[in-house]
Amino acid sequence: MARIHAFEFEDLAWFPASLRNRMTEYLDFLGSRMRGFVELAASRIEPLLDAGDEARVVDLGSGSGGALPTVARALAVAGHPLRVTLTDRYPNGEALERVCAEDPGRFAWYPEPVDARAVPAELPGVRTMFLSMHHFRPDDARAILADAAHSRNPIAVFEGTERNPLLIVAFSLTVPIVVLLTAPFIRPFRWSRLFFSWVVPLLPFLIWWDGLVSHLRTYSTDELEALVAEIPSDGWRWDIRRERIPGTPAYCIHLVGHPA
Ligand SMILES: C[S@@+](CC[C@H](N)C(=O)[O-])C[C@H]1O[C@@H](n2cnc3c(N)ncnc32)[C@H](O)[C@@H]1O
Repeated sequence: MARIHAFEFEDLAWFPASLRNRMTEYLDFLGSRMRGFVELAASRIEPLLDAGDEARVVDLGSGSGGALPTVARALAVAGHPLRVTLTDRYPNGEALERVCAEDPGRFAWYPEPVDARAVPAELPGVRTMFLSMHHFRPDDARAILADAAHSRNPIAVFEGTERNPLLIVAFSLTVPIVVLLTAPFIRPFRWSRLFFSWVVPLLPFLIWWDGLVSHLRTYSTDELEALVAEIPSDGWRWDIRRERIPGTPAYCIHLVGHPA
């Protein structure tokens, strides 16, 4: 299946922040509860951290937090204390503030917009990207990876979608129902979330559309290999895999770049 870079509502600068935030809060609700995904991500990030030292992690495209805070807590329990900075081009300050308030020693959020294509030099550390790499066209995706290699900051990228027709059909049949069922349980509770789910089903449509396009945009492992092959990376290693998410029938495509 060819890669189709259609538009996602989340990427549009004029798209209302209130709707974008309800959409990323849904991803945060699911991502932080998917134990297998969290385990898999933690096992890929762990080797990038210096044993014993308090490693710095900079998450790009954090949305409302997503899986990383849960991954960071799992790594801390496993003996890897982390300091995490959450960033986004359109940061959901209210949600990120809540993540940080739970554990201010571990989490901070960067209040200025951070474009993953131009990470400020004042944010060194292991870079992570959850469910975000497909937002970028090939030249931008390559530039993000090249910048990590050139600045010697390891990077770990995780996707939860892929260009698989069966998966896309299953996704389309189930996700609008999941959005309706989870709406009352996502925190903070908002009447507007219920209204735009049950009375005017705008959120199920928006989340279905962006999810569908995310599947169509996701890079295959071969395409990621081709992207990194064009990056001059002396002393740098790329590890790209498609791996079963433990406890689920789904797969995660992930990429890790680190000093050889
Ligand atoms: C699908 S959401 C993923 C959010 C979160 N990582 C998660 O796992 O729930 C993609 C995020 O990428 C952000 N984004 C889009 N373009 C971006 C860019 N150029 N730089 C940084 N973030 C971007 C969006 O604002 C959105 O929060």
